[in-house]
Amino acid sequence: MKKTSTGSFVSTSVAGESITAFVPNPLPPRFASGALASLAEPLRAAEAALARLDLAGSLIPSLDWFIYAFVRKEALLSSEIEGTQATLVDVLTFEQTDQVGDSAVDDIEEVTNYVAAVNHAFKQMQAKKGVPISIRLFNDCHGILMRGVRGANKQPGVLRRSQNWVGGSRPGNAVFVPPPPQEVPKLLSDLERYIHADDALAPMLRIGLVHVQFETIHPYLDGNGRLGRMLIALLLKHWQLLENPLLYLSLYLKQNQSTYYRLLSGVRDGKWTDWLQFFLTGVADIASDAAEKARRLHAQVVSDRKVLLGTPGVTVTAIQMFELLPEHPVLTMPLVTKLLATTKPTAGKVIEVLTAAGILVEVGAKKRDRLYRYQRYLALLDDR
Ligand SMILES: Nc1ncnc2c1ncn2[C@@H]1O[C@H](COP(=O)(O)OP(=O)(O)O)[C@@H](O)[C@H]1O
Ligand SMILES: [Mg+2]
Repeated sequence: MKKTSTGSFVSTSVAGESITAFVPNPLPPRFASGALASLAEPLRAAEAALARLDLAGSLIPSLDWFIYAFVRKEALLSSEIEGTQATLVDVLTFEQTDQVGDSAVDDIEEVTNYVAAVNHAFKQMQAKKGVPISIRLFNDCHGILMRGVRGANKQPGVLRRSQNWVGGSRPGNAVFVPPPPQEVPKLLSDLERYIHADDALAPMLRIGLVHVQFETIHPYLDGNGRLGRMLIALLLKHWQLLENPLLYLSLYLKQNQSTYYRLLSGVRDGKWTDWLQFFLTGVADIASDAAEKARRLHAQVVSDRKVLLGTPGVTVTAIQMFELLPEHPVLTMPLVTKLLATTKPTAGKVIEVLTAAGILVEVGAKKRDRLYRYQRYLALLDDR
């Protein structure tokens, strides 16, 4: 066993091959003198940007719209880091109508599982007797994330019982070999304890530390990246930095994926501040982006509402449907009928008016029910 300032390297063997796995020290690390001072400015910027996003959330009359949209955006991007290929429009279409577009259904399922897992965690955290941030909550969320075909052989909802590795074709040539499986429960319960303990360190920094520690432990056979990124949203709420899951940090992590991975590794060499600097920059960047995006989406709705009111033949039901569009940006005739609890002819008229106003756009998919999208809104949301 070789000890360093960040953990110990232990020998273990996998399939007859002798390898070295890394067991991290419990949090918090001991920072070199001056290290925290160098983070003061990026920390202030990240906290300020988050506070603005939190405030924007509390001022907007229709916060649920943005939660709906931004949680899906984050789910998609975080899954993309993992390699999932689905489009936002296909995910929303599937959720609203069960229709599958060009994306593979397994890819869509991964994203919708992610959304379900985040929603589950937030519900638990908000409930009086809900499960707090803990190994149990991680396991429950992992179980939801790994539901279905692709996750079935990944031991959903349970901590791994075998040695895993990151990068490379086998542990012997891996970029990183996480701790042996028997160390995982203890390491995670230390992490859980750290989350609920007092620490003089700024919560924003603690979140950065917890994310790396989770990735270093790599407690599951798969889904560690996604769960660890989800944990960022949970901790932002836990430490009252952001009430709702509005920060799609995965956009930044995806845009800087190789740096992200390199800095995760760097922490094992004691380079905590490089990682934290990167993390804080991303939080500031994405929080500003999200606040601006919320403003633009809101402005789009306000201007479209005006257009609709001036459209000949506009009806009360058409206006009612319009107000539901941000949470139902993809529609079919049966869905409109159901949402408005109305008849087919009335739903038909609603679609006609909203299309005439240029708000809904009819798109292909002749196989089944025709699809209508709130195109301008979706285009703003999906900015790639
Ligand atoms: N060098 C590294 N050290 C520690 N963690 C890493 C490293 N490189 C990547 N990771 C983390 O591992 C994740 C991939 O692990 P995996 O279990 O496949 O998660 P997921 O299936 O959610 O992508 C990455 O998204 C990243 O968060
Ligand atoms: Mg994976």
